[in-house]
Amino acid sequence: MRTLTATIGLVCALATSSIANAALSGCAKNLALRVTNIYENGDTEFHYDYCENIHDGRGYTSGIAGFCTGTSDAWVVLQEYHRMTGGKDEFSQYDAVMKKLDKSGSGSTTGLDGYCKTWEKLGKSDPKFRTAQEKVRDEMYFDPSQKLADSLDAQLDVTRAQIYDASIQHGIGEGYDSIGGLIKRTNESFKADASGSSGSTLKVNGHNVDEIVWLNKFLKVRMDDLKNPHNKETQKEWSGSVTRVKSYQYIVAQKQYRWDSSIKALDNDGKVAEVKCKI
Ligand SMILES: *[C@@H]1O[C@H](CO)[C@@H](O)[C@H](O)[C@H]1NC(C)=O
Repeated sequence: MRTLTATIGLVCALATSSIANAALSGCAKNLALRVTNIYENGDTEFHYDYCENIHDGRGYTSGIAGFCTGTSDAWVVLQEYHRMTGGKDEFSQYDAVMKKLDKSGSGSTTGLDGYCKTWEKLGKSDPKFRTAQEKVRDEMYFDPSQKLADSLDAQLDVTRAQIYDASIQHGIGEGYDSIGGLIKRTNESFKADASGSSGSTLKVNGHNVDEIVWLNKFLKVRMDDLKNPHNKETQKEWSGSVTRVKSYQYIVAQKQYRWDSSIKALDNDGKVAEVKCKI
């Protein structure tokens, strides 16, 4: 990763929502991933076959989540792919070098001649390689973000998608600028019950807080952090990326709380764009 996924009757549906978390799945998950793609990759598509050295010190950046040879997540994808192919495939020739890079965390591309050609080819043509990328994206990035949403007991798609988007940019962790820091500061701002009309109430510090009231506060905390992060190295990059927070503020203002086949969000120019579920 460079910066740093049926109605069966009323009684049954009610019972489910009170005991289980409203995990993002199907089109709601597809939309969450696509909205974040706008801000990470410039469009809503999944670029399985992308591979490039963008000279950020992390080696080759590639695939649907910007997996890097210098940050170990590309190696996790290749290992997953090897498991699916039985171990001998077109990426095997890079295993020795990838293992070394995994240990050193180096952005060197020595010994990786043809790596991007192989990635592009298999990203276009091999369903197994695509599945391997999806699996690692979910395990390393999407699922951990949804665990955090579970810890809040968030029920609305918009909240769960926002926690994913913030996790991708801010990183999973407890530091001031990371998603844990943002959630902590949001939680701490509630000193009393805060009502609203979203239909979902969170328990925060013993207070009943409407989920959309919580989300609006979270978006404000995140916006403030993007403009003034503790890590000053990211300040320039982050101050230019406030559109993704404005986009979610727009989504909330339009009361798009539960997501179905499409939603309206803001693109990188701040223009309203329809994002459609395509599975
Ligand atoms: C925020 O509040 C929720 C609900 O009380 C809690 O489960 C979660 O751990 C809190 N998160 C942080 C980072 O403080």
